Amino acid sequence: MTETQAPPATEEENPLLEGLRRRRTPEPCALTIFGASGDLTQRKLFPALYALAVRHLLPERFAVVGVARTEMETDDFVARMREAVIEHGRDEFQEEVWEELAAGVRYIVSDFSEHSGWDALAACLTELDEERGTAGNRVFYLAVPPGAFAGIVENVGRRRTTSGWTRLICEKPFGHDLESARRLNETIARYFAEEEVFRIDHYLGKETVQNMLVLRFANGIFEPIWNRQFVDHVQITVAESLGLEGRAAFYESSGAIRDIVQNHLLQLVALTAMEPPIAFDPESVRNEKVKVLRSLHTPGPKHIVRGQYGPGFIEGAEVPGYREEEGVAPDSETETYVAGKLFVDNWRWADTPFYFRTGKRLPKRETTIAIQFKRAPKPPFEAAEEGMRPNVLLLHIQPDEGVSLAIGAKVPGQGLAIRTVHMDFLYGGAFRTGLPEAYERLILDCMLGDATLFMRADEVEEQWALVDSVIAGWRRDRPAFPNYAAGSWGPAAADELLHRDGRSWRRH
Ligand code: BG6
Repeated sequence: MTETQAPPATEEENPLLEGLRRRRTPEPCALTIFGASGDLTQRKLFPALYALAVRHLLPERFAVVGVARTEMETDDFVARMREAVIEHGRDEFQEEVWEELAAGVRYIVSDFSEHSGWDALAACLTELDEERGTAGNRVFYLAVPPGAFAGIVENVGRRRTTSGWTRLICEKPFGHDLESARRLNETIARYFAEEEVFRIDHYLGKETVQNMLVLRFANGIFEPIWNRQFVDHVQITVAESLGLEGRAAFYESSGAIRDIVQNHLLQLVALTAMEPPIAFDPESVRNEKVKVLRSLHTPGPKHIVRGQYGPGFIEGAEVPGYREEEGVAPDSETETYVAGKLFVDNWRWADTPFYFRTGKRLPKRETTIAIQFKRAPKPPFEAAEEGMRPNVLLLHIQPDEGVSLAIGAKVPGQGLAIRTVHMDFLYGGAFRTGLPEAYERLILDCMLGDATLFMRADEVEEQWALVDSVIAGWRRDRPAFPNYAAGSWGPAAADELLHRDGRSWRRH
């Protein structure tokens, strides 16, 4: 694809971004983060708030209250967050921008089992309304383990102020299975209307994931061929080279199917397969996604593969197997890899397989969606058939964000040889501006009251229903773990899954 002429080089000069700035300034509000001493707040939330501050996208009157069990004063918390922004932020650090943001930051020590914590929070928010002009508008961000959700929701719900709006952001995981997710949805529904609830799947905030919708619905050429008549199959890969990163306690009870398939992966399936929504608004987009999730067939045991990594090498360095990781049981049966074949049982996609795979300790970090088209019918170049491969539209979600179309081309010279070449669009080259982090988009959307890129209650439940039935099937037999080496592309059974259908995973 020939890239269109690049817009001006810096974000300041870019009129598109100027437009965005003008349109997207939220009303005054205070953001309360429960779980403020955790990893997410340091690595993602504060760097995202700072990036929004740099771009003047935060409300003019704004405050943040961090709440956690760790004993510290507001000053200590601010100092920690400053370090976090310097370490994890995507912009050059500017003291004046930070000072302005930090002036509205407060910290409260509480585990919320006792009244005093709630009273302190209520008093702090009232004070901020007066001092900072946050107007009674509240966002409550639950960055805590799922077990702590319900208690916080009830307390926040019972103490809602009536003077402004209140919104709830729920970090993933949303429940542990269908039953717990339903219970949580019921608790939330007692105090909040659905449009006040923002369930995070941070993949939806990724620029490239949103671009899928633009690619499909803003370009006339793709939609007519986006169906079973033209598409042979779809391959979705969410690969990570990272291992546990000190999260054994969480991962042991989660595994790859709950951690990635239940949310990120099924969202990618839904966005790939959905019908065009009538508008880009929360209800229209989510209605279409839910239809896809409802039409998914639970893969039978032959169509799903699980794996766990043994010792191996990542980028030349020796790494331990999963069972040797700190905090993991030596006979753990937790899966670190899942591959499977799904069918979307509707008119557009009937009989078109959607293969997916995800795993930790794979050779590299890569998230892609490959739409493989059917082969050309009888090509008139018999002698050159060897080099002919089906067209593939490859969406690079990360890294090297962009879109690539594989086509056959004649190799220059005598005779007729055909080779696959790629027409590439790369974000970096076309727009010459850094991509925002998913959390920037999501926090801002919530403050603007736009839930389009968040999961609705019924979506989460559909996703759990599918995952629960896969897990129920697994309970019958003991897996022979470990079954792939760290640094390999997963268990042999995952290759067989495609070979049985006369296909193979895309080469890297
Ligand atoms: C999280 C998972 O939701 O997504 C992690 O809990 C995973 O295990 C992470 O590493 C991947 O996110 P990203 O944005 O790095 O692809």
